[in-house]
Amino acid sequence: MAVKNKQMKRAEPESDLCFAGKPVSVVESMIRWPHRYPSKKTKLEAATATKGDKKEKIKLAKRHYEQALVDGVLINLNDDVYVTGLPGKLNFIGKVIEMFEADDGVPYSRIRWFYRPNDTLIERFAELVQKKRVFLSNVEDDNPLTCIYSKVNIAKVPLPKITSRIEQRVIPPCDYYYDMKYEVPYLNFTSADDDTAASSTLSSDSASNCFETLHKDEKYLLDLYSGCGAMSTGFCMGASIAGVKLITKWSVDINKFACDSFRHNHPETEVRNEAAEDFLILLKEWKRLCERFSLSSSTEPMESISELEDEESDENDDIDEASTGMELSAGEFEVEKFVGIVFGDPKGTGEKTLHLKGTVYSVCGGPPCQGISGYNRFRNKQAPLEDKKNQQLLVFLDIIDFLKPSYVLMENVVDLLRFSKGYLARHAVASFVAMNYQTRLGMMTAGSYGLPQVRNRVFLWAAQPTEDLQVGLIQKELLQLDNALTLADAISDLPPVTNSEANDVRNYNDAAPKTDFENFISLKRSETLLPVCGGDPARRLFDHQPLELRDDDLERISYIPKKKGANFRDMPGVLVHNNKAQLNLRVKRAKLKSGKNVVPAYAVSFIKGKSKKPFGRLWWDEIVNTVVTRAEPHNQCVIHPMQERVLSVRENARLQGFPDCYKLCGSIKEKYIQVGNAVAVPVGVALGYAFGMASQGLTDDEPVIKLPFKYPECMQGTNFEFLSALGNVSKDTGIVASMILNSTRDFEARVQYNEVEKKRCSTMIATLCRFKPPQTPEEVEGDLCAAFDKLSVDDFFKGDMPDWVPEDALTASDNLQYYEEKLQWAQPFELRKIIVQTREDVESKKWAKAENAILHCLQKPWLPSRLQCYHKENNG
Ligand SMILES: C[S@@+](CC[C@H](N)C(=O)[O-])C[C@H]1O[C@@H](n2cnc3c(N)ncnc32)[C@H](O)[C@@H]1O
Repeated sequence: MAVKNKQMKRAEPESDLCFAGKPVSVVESMIRWPHRYPSKKTKLEAATATKGDKKEKIKLAKRHYEQALVDGVLINLNDDVYVTGLPGKLNFIGKVIEMFEADDGVPYSRIRWFYRPNDTLIERFAELVQKKRVFLSNVEDDNPLTCIYSKVNIAKVPLPKITSRIEQRVIPPCDYYYDMKYEVPYLNFTSADDDTAASSTLSSDSASNCFETLHKDEKYLLDLYSGCGAMSTGFCMGASIAGVKLITKWSVDINKFACDSFRHNHPETEVRNEAAEDFLILLKEWKRLCERFSLSSSTEPMESISELEDEESDENDDIDEASTGMELSAGEFEVEKFVGIVFGDPKGTGEKTLHLKGTVYSVCGGPPCQGISGYNRFRNKQAPLEDKKNQQLLVFLDIIDFLKPSYVLMENVVDLLRFSKGYLARHAVASFVAMNYQTRLGMMTAGSYGLPQVRNRVFLWAAQPTEDLQVGLIQKELLQLDNALTLADAISDLPPVTNSEANDVRNYNDAAPKTDFENFISLKRSETLLPVCGGDPARRLFDHQPLELRDDDLERISYIPKKKGANFRDMPGVLVHNNKAQLNLRVKRAKLKSGKNVVPAYAVSFIKGKSKKPFGRLWWDEIVNTVVTRAEPHNQCVIHPMQERVLSVRENARLQGFPDCYKLCGSIKEKYIQVGNAVAVPVGVALGYAFGMASQGLTDDEPVIKLPFKYPECMQGTNFEFLSALGNVSKDTGIVASMILNSTRDFEARVQYNEVEKKRCSTMIATLCRFKPPQTPEEVEGDLCAAFDKLSVDDFFKGDMPDWVPEDALTASDNLQYYEEKLQWAQPFELRKIIVQTREDVESKKWAKAENAILHCLQKPWLPSRLQCYHKENNG
């Protein structure tokens, strides 16, 4: 998706042209464009200075102007212009951001380019995007002033609202308009307003957003094509680490067993076992019915359905189920009982429903596009979207078009970018941009996120124009995964099982975790960030069963030695010449007990004998390529290093980063499918974390996460452990001290307990919070209060942190909502945010909830083993 270099191709016509008006004063020019006026000393260096990522030779200037005359027309600085294109081609368009006479006397302009849709990655789908729409790029360069052809009227229109793809926007009279930027080289489409007023709105909004997110509002996620839920599980965990309470409220998948698994692990989710296309029809139809019968207002008395139907029966053959003639009271609608979707809030419970506008905050999903898979020999390269196997991409986009969530995350295989020059990826981006979503596209390798598995996947973000899309995980430095996890690190603690293991639940017995990975991946559910009420509370080992191989295959794998790199080539009668396997025709073929050949023909002919995968044995120090949905050893390397069996479902699940407590449902084959289909959980966590940070406006141009990523330590649930709560200050005030995981630092907060004993949990309000200085031996003995030494803490901050919040600041009448401070700590901490819930906020609620966090710390960079966010949740 390379971008054309416009400068290289531009023609240079003769033109009646000169600068107009007085030059900009020398002093001002030197301030505004210092790189064009270097001192003699720095001239040499300046001439080759770097601008942006590209080395650009900087033209030195004699003087700058703010106006020029082109063919008698006055061009002002920041005007938009046509720049002469190649013969027979459209003129280029750009914004004049500098006009100067170069030191060789040639008049120059610096142009920042606009991209037409077909100059962007949208390319062949330009017609999907609104006519006259262009994108302001971050590409700029110097051009002789003579290249300017004429002025062009490009309107900057305000931040667009999310709109339907088919809706035409009302725009002022202009030649072109723009509302988005196109960021080369990452090919992101982002709101054009972020460098003007919008950015301040965004950041101030985001602060309140954050507060809302933490204390007032849960955000809801819809997981489409959810499978057993790996993607949304990771995503919500990541969001929660960033301080956003994101709940998977709905999931949709056509596979019953995947839905059963989802349901088992996520009781908080309404799991919909149906085809996405049916779900979409249902949404649309339900909306139509509800609008028709005015269900959007729960206060209006309802007419009976039968009465309404009598009036309009001809057009409504499809509502028979509801037309029972029964009188329905306000807000009741019988269909609701079996479709499970409600429009608005008919019962007035305040409970948000799927259809309620704005309710679906985020959608994630991986629409299957089997029509592009490399395994599919009948791929339709010319028109991939006509292939039925790719239709789900359109269904996915239609659902987004209908629900208009704030954020969308779409996952897919790398073929999405590869097949037919990225046809489907381009189509998806064009569709999002047409709906006025910002977009960002990237690829992630699971191995960089703490797993012994390569697994490359493509992710496409879309965010409403007012949202922050700085979700970039890009790291420019070359990544050295010197401490990459290996197979041994991930599965060596699992107890041995046989090829025909009958139990899908067992105890770990004596098997003790040997590595950090094994330690964290085998936490019991209440110790993880998974919803505590689902699944199984005990620390038990689920799904540690391999696909049961038939006798022939079992006998075959007994021929594979227990050593690194062993495979079918080690079977008797196989010769290898020039890295190509063939049968040794001079010896009699070895036979199995059944009489069949030990070496099956398919193994030798696979990839013309060049593959080492058939009956491949994995080794302890290896990184697995990609966990797939099948477990047969015939053409893949899936045999356990030391045992005569293939990797079990649980072993595959570990390679995908599923917590051990995530139990799967269905037959063993179905479980393998769910695991193989999954988005690796830590990749979901990283994305969720990036999303959480971005949605609170806490990201900047730096990568959100430093790789390699620390998984699965981050899975661990709240590490705000109550070591002590001493009521020594007054009746309702105490000090809470907390350990920071794996850190020498302790944290403590002075809290006020909520006076009213809540039914579900007791709540408290932190009035002071800080890191404790290292404890003395006496303090360790038990007197935690002794460590509460204000002076030493202040000294620790060395003046960086303003005074402590006054003791009554959060509770007094000045309505201070929260205390927020950004601090640059001595490495390795950079504390991003501390938010303390006010007493007022808690008490104004009828049901003060524990998720009204009393304290929230956000940090950057990602150092999960050091400091996490702290909030006390319902789950304790
Ligand atoms: C790649 S998997 C998704 C995995 C999931 N995101 C995860 O992380 O566990 C794709 C899923 O799409 C489901 N699927 C395929 N066609 C579907 C359809 N028409 N409607 C709904 N789900 C469908 C499959 O059952 C499969 O579970």
